[in-house]
Amino acid sequence: MRMRRIPWAADYLKTSGSRIMDPASRKGSWKKENPARLHLEIGAGKGGYSAGMAALYPKEQFVAVEKNESAAGLAAKKFDEAALDNLSLIYGDGADLSLWFDPQEVDVIHLNFSDPWPKKRNAKRRLSAPAFTGQYRGVLADDGELIMKTDNAQLFEYSLLEFQKAGFVLQDVSVDFRREEHPEDVLTEYEEKFVQTGHPIYRAIWKKA
Ligand SMILES: C[S@@+](CC[C@H](N)C(=O)[O-])C[C@H]1O[C@@H](n2cnc3c(N)ncnc32)[C@H](O)[C@@H]1O
Repeated sequence: MRMRRIPWAADYLKTSGSRIMDPASRKGSWKKENPARLHLEIGAGKGGYSAGMAALYPKEQFVAVEKNESAAGLAAKKFDEAALDNLSLIYGDGADLSLWFDPQEVDVIHLNFSDPWPKKRNAKRRLSAPAFTGQYRGVLADDGELIMKTDNAQLFEYSLLEFQKAGFVLQDVSVDFRREEHPEDVLTEYEEKFVQTGHPIYRAIWKKA
């Protein structure tokens, strides 16, 4: 689904208090400033998941990464209004993770309803393609977790194989995660739509081998 262009997003992102303007300058020091467990959501869209999780888990820190200017603008506004000190935004591309984080600096990586890029020629853009999985392995702590939710069976199958190839071990898997109540996990904006129509949500958790 194409994101509607938000005309004020570019200007808003220039002054948003929630946006980390120069994430590379924090490389290696994210935990020094705040020792709380660090969660990264890559492809956060309008930011509802990270905002909801930061409110639910005030002792953990949440950083949302989004590369689309309009989506990032909406997320920044949501985060500024939420005014939580454990919630921030990187307006950037998840392909740059290792410029922003030292090895093992991240505790949990969340991939929520990532773009499926169904055509083979676009497979390298998937957030579970090798260019990304290698970086996740690098920045994730040895006891860290990678958690993926998606509505897309093909992307889920692809990701199960790619994470295994990249040295991750499956810890938990569900092909209908919302069959049961999960108050510990916030619904994303995309997820809300799928849950309303009864579409199953696939979810998996991996750890490093
Ligand atoms: C389908 S939307 C899902 C948004 C949100 N996670 C949700 O579940 O409601 C996928 C988002 O991932 C973002 N995205 C895709 N590739 C990205 C990348 N390499 N780095 C950062 N964001 C990316 C897109 O711009 C889009 O906002």
